Amino acid sequence: MDVGAVSDFKDKRVRIVQAGSHEVGVLRWRDRFFAVHNRCPHQSGPVCLGIVSGRLSGSAPGSMEVDEETPVLACPWHGWEFELEGGRALWDASYAVKMVSVSVESGRVILEVGRSRD
Ligand code: FES
Repeated sequence: MDVGAVSDFKDKRVRIVQAGSHEVGVLRWRDRFFAVHNRCPHQSGPVCLGIVSGRLSGSAPGSMEVDEETPVLACPWHGWEFELEGGRALWDASYAVKMVSVSVESGRVILEVGRSRD
């Protein structure tokens, strides 16, 4: 399913598209794309309306680093955070958002609807 030109997607923003009976959030993160079902595994909140950032970590009290290679999506309802490489929750990897396969072909962003990415 063609969801638009690469240039239609702003960096580090999620755009929600309708894919059959599901809403899917498509995120451009620099030159990579991720696609996520807009349904949080916690209480089914609209996870794709949350904030996206690089993963935060700290090696010592008072220090904080941002890993720009690892995008994280935070659900707007209760703040659960999901790492978008695999969809796993940061606090408990047994929870995950459902990822959808997405690719770029000839400058177009293509969702592979019906194919989950695990
Ligand atoms: S519904 Fe997403 S964190 Fe609760």
